[in-house]
Amino acid sequence: MCGIVGYIGNQKASPILINGLIRLEYRGYDSAGISTIEKDGLSIMKDKGRVKNLYNLEGIDDLTGTIGIAHTRWATHGKPAKENSHPHMDNSKTFSVVHNGIIENYNELRKFLTENGYTFYSQTDTEVIPNLVHYYYSKDTQSDELKFLRAVQNACADLKGSYAIEIICKDYKDCMIVTRKDSPLVIGKGEDENYISSDIPAILSFTRNFYLLNDLEFAILTREAVSFYDKDLNAISKKAEVIEWNAASAEKDGYDDFMLKEIHEQPTAIRETIGAKFSETSKCEFDELNFTKEYLSGLNKIYIVACGTAMYAGLVGKNAIEKLCKITTEVDVASEFRYRDPLVDDKTLCIFISQSGETADTIAALKLCKEKGAKTLAISNVIGSSITREADYSIYTHAGPEIAVASTKAYTSQVMLITILAIYFAEVLEINTTTLNTLKKDIMELPAKIEETLKLSENIQDFSKKAYQEKDIFFLGRGIDEAVAKEGSLKLKEISYIHSESYPAGELKHGPIALIENDITVVSIMTDCKLVEKTVSNIQEVITRGAKTLVITNQDVDEKMFDLTIRIPETNPFISPILSIIPLQLFAYYISKEKGLDVDKPRNLAKSVTVE
Ligand code: AGP
Repeated sequence: MCGIVGYIGNQKASPILINGLIRLEYRGYDSAGISTIEKDGLSIMKDKGRVKNLYNLEGIDDLTGTIGIAHTRWATHGKPAKENSHPHMDNSKTFSVVHNGIIENYNELRKFLTENGYTFYSQTDTEVIPNLVHYYYSKDTQSDELKFLRAVQNACADLKGSYAIEIICKDYKDCMIVTRKDSPLVIGKGEDENYISSDIPAILSFTRNFYLLNDLEFAILTREAVSFYDKDLNAISKKAEVIEWNAASAEKDGYDDFMLKEIHEQPTAIRETIGAKFSETSKCEFDELNFTKEYLSGLNKIYIVACGTAMYAGLVGKNAIEKLCKITTEVDVASEFRYRDPLVDDKTLCIFISQSGETADTIAALKLCKEKGAKTLAISNVIGSSITREADYSIYTHAGPEIAVASTKAYTSQVMLITILAIYFAEVLEINTTTLNTLKKDIMELPAKIEETLKLSENIQDFSKKAYQEKDIFFLGRGIDEAVAKEGSLKLKEISYIHSESYPAGELKHGPIALIENDITVVSIMTDCKLVEKTVSNIQEVITRGAKTLVITNQDVDEKMFDLTIRIPETNPFISPILSIIPLQLFAYYISKEKGLDVDKPRNLAKSVTVE
């Protein structure tokens, strides 16, 4: 939530900063602003609303500074308004700050600073930071090259909460300081120029070399170099990591929206995620994992913990792990798990799924499990993300950058990876060879089947035209299809703002069927041959009560019963969610387009939720 960008080099900073913000806008779009060091001191330009509004600000084209910081906001403290927009300055206009995160003790700090003569002009938690830096700066009697850094360090020592911060100072015209704790920030290394960003894709067109900062570390960026310090200001060295993603993957590439592009990238994302982890004849291998039969067979339980879509991918993972490995597996929402004193010990394996690797609740849940002595395994799409740095083991989906707020290719890649992980566990446990070999063969055929499924979009688009004015839509399924129903329902509400619910189809008559009335849309997924007849009966019950029905299936059903039947290719039940979710992603997408909404940036949401 909130995106930050920084630039120091020899080019005019403002266009680079605005360009970076546009790419980070999915993280929040309540307001935007930039601050640069100009000949006559610090300049700030900011306004409420989208990043593009910055182009209309008077004087923006006159900025010539080659150092600057920038911010796009997802409002937490203080309503979306110009005065609450970042950057924020201290009272003396010596420091300019952008911040992503939440300062939990800001009231206490505000009181302290007010008592010391400082005035506040916004309702934000952030405004305490530049003033606190100024407070320590003005008290420091030395005037050496580290005075600025000392002031930032002293101020940060007073902060409670999470932050990724960039600070510039009018007295230090050739550097900027950054630091982080529990909020993302990467440093891009260029030739006589350096960049800062909340994530890698936003600056991928400038560099592929990135430094990753750990919690409580500081970096001073000059044009030529980046120097790193630990929390006590001891100098430390870091090696830049080369990121393999290409810049084009962070562009729309001819598609109207990132979401549509990302839906169509799923065959590639799945191919890349399968990679060379196994062949039909060889066992599954993860270079990063070294689990033994003794460890896995001694487990009392596996927990899969995540938020939103990633948690729904976990539900599919539970099915695979329990059926293939016979290990009890529980799936939980990270924000609940972390506060309910879960029964976790050294015989529990805890798996955390997070596309961004920066979700605050998921990271906190992981830390809790480590404290309780469990081994932790992270599944993420972002190399070097916070979750992967915290976990004992990390494995990666290879979906490439996912920009649209609504997750699509990351979800299917997570389902793929956790299924392969289940195969790996089963092989380590030496169980079920025939089932595993069939599943591996079916996985290899999956990318081509995704391509086939994507060709079904026209019918779904037509059906969306009939359903886009609905107030409520229901999603039903049994078994693994119920997990898909949940994800389909989330996708729809996220980007179309239509209220939707998902239910196990058999649960309908225990209450929800009271909501079914004439012409309401009911979407149903039926991919399990053992359960299809039961689900058809449940759909019959809603048809009798006047519902319009959309059915996603690969089973032999009487299509005449339903308003639209989308036939997806047959596949192994363990991986059928990767195919059956695609029509639902397209359904949500076309409804949102039909309503004229911003598909990639739905209201109130942000791509990565770095606050509780
Ligand atoms: C997905 O469409 C959502 N935007 C959201 O539920 C997301 O999956 C969730 O916030 C978790 O994000 P993460 O995978 O980056 O941890």
